[in-house]
Amino acid sequence: MGNESLTITDNRTGKSYELPLKHGNIRAMDLRQIKTTEKDFGVMSYDPAFLNTAACESRITFIDGDLGILRYRGYPIEQLAAKCSYLETAYLLLYGELPDEKKLSDFTARVARHTFIHENMKKFMEGFRYDAHPMSMLVSSIAALSSFYPDAREVHNPEVRELMAIRLIAKIPTIAAYAFRHTNGLPFVYPDNELSYTANFMNMLWKMAEPKFLANPVLAHALDILFILHADHEQNCSTSTMRVVGSSQADPFLSMAAAASALSGPLHGGANEEVLRMIDEIGSIEHIPAFIESVKKGERKLMGFGHRVYKNYDPRAQVIKETADSVFAVTGRNPKVDIAREIEKIALSDEYFVKRRLYPNVDFYSGIIYEAMGFRPEMFTVLFAIPRTSGWLAHWEEQSKDADTKISRPRQVYLGSGERNVK
Ligand code: ACO
Repeated sequence: MGNESLTITDNRTGKSYELPLKHGNIRAMDLRQIKTTEKDFGVMSYDPAFLNTAACESRITFIDGDLGILRYRGYPIEQLAAKCSYLETAYLLLYGELPDEKKLSDFTARVARHTFIHENMKKFMEGFRYDAHPMSMLVSSIAALSSFYPDAREVHNPEVRELMAIRLIAKIPTIAAYAFRHTNGLPFVYPDNELSYTANFMNMLWKMAEPKFLANPVLAHALDILFILHADHEQNCSTSTMRVVGSSQADPFLSMAAAASALSGPLHGGANEEVLRMIDEIGSIEHIPAFIESVKKGERKLMGFGHRVYKNYDPRAQVIKETADSVFAVTGRNPKVDIAREIEKIALSDEYFVKRRLYPNVDFYSGIIYEAMGFRPEMFTVLFAIPRTSGWLAHWEEQSKDADTKISRPRQVYLGSGERNVK
């Protein structure tokens, strides 16, 4: 076995076991041979939040949390944000390589062809209460799409999987925009397939009586950059949900509805909404020190700070900070950015945050830009879900082709009652 192994001694029995290492890791199943008796179940690993458990091998996204590195298929996020469009990035995530001109124009045309949703989907969305949260509308509508595409259940057919991925990437902005229009009591706007992905989304959001809506190109570009930054982030909570639900061979609409549900939580994609609420609550720069003190006492969390993987500056937060200025040049400065920058300054020089290596994450500045563009906080997580669709689907596709894939089914450490009788 050479040096590529780990020797474990069971102090209960004095026996030693040599476990092979693959890419520097052991297989948890290899622990099961470690037993005290023949009937013993064997040793498991206990890892409730997957702090140190790899659930798959993946070739999509690389993160080095200590160095603040994020790469999709090997390309640094900063380069993708500077040189590529969101659809190029989605193609990269799905197919593994950046498209040439022809492949990109075919992919763009294919996505454009699928942007419309069935008229009954529109009626379905009209049924939501006037004050429904846009994320609830989005999640339910993604699930409802499953009922329009029964062929989506053919998850073993690669052509069907590809078509469903295109459908989801194409339709998610339409659903998101309809949720926005519903909240605002405005009629739905049909997609305009002559426009780019983000310009069409903006058309469906903001078109009023004008014959053709032309998005401000600076804002459309900024939104495109934000979409690139949010497209994937390896095995985060929602992507893992996509993989877990997908492992049961549920169709991709239902798996993605589950992934979007996971994204909605305030500890995950819902944090951007909470950041704006927090800044509103703080109100002005002089209230920041008192707020920080309450965080340090454990009474609050500083939303938009901290990350399970990044223990350094989130590289996405850096690009977002730079994008903010181009947006403000068009929309006017959102004064909340001054509060946010001051929070960051104070937190990054405070021992509590330094010791715990808490830095701004992707959600810290994104909401401020979205608000300047005209979105209310309820929409922020929806804006996250649109681009994350390509990441979820890339992982779902990778899993579908992986010979190691089995239905996800964790073990438990049972600590409840032993057998007892009903009297
Ligand atoms: N504010 C104050 N303290 C914090 C914060 C925060 N935002 N985040 C972590 N801490 C503290 C914890 O209280 C803990 O302190 P302790 O060691 O004294 O108990 C320590 O830092 C380590 O934190 P954990 O909770 O163990 O870190 P974990 O990896 O489990 O959580 C998470 C990561 C959920 C992102 C957390 O940092 C958090 O809740 N942040 C705020 C919510 C947020 O911004 N989420 C978006 C993440 S990015 C995304 O999902 C797109």
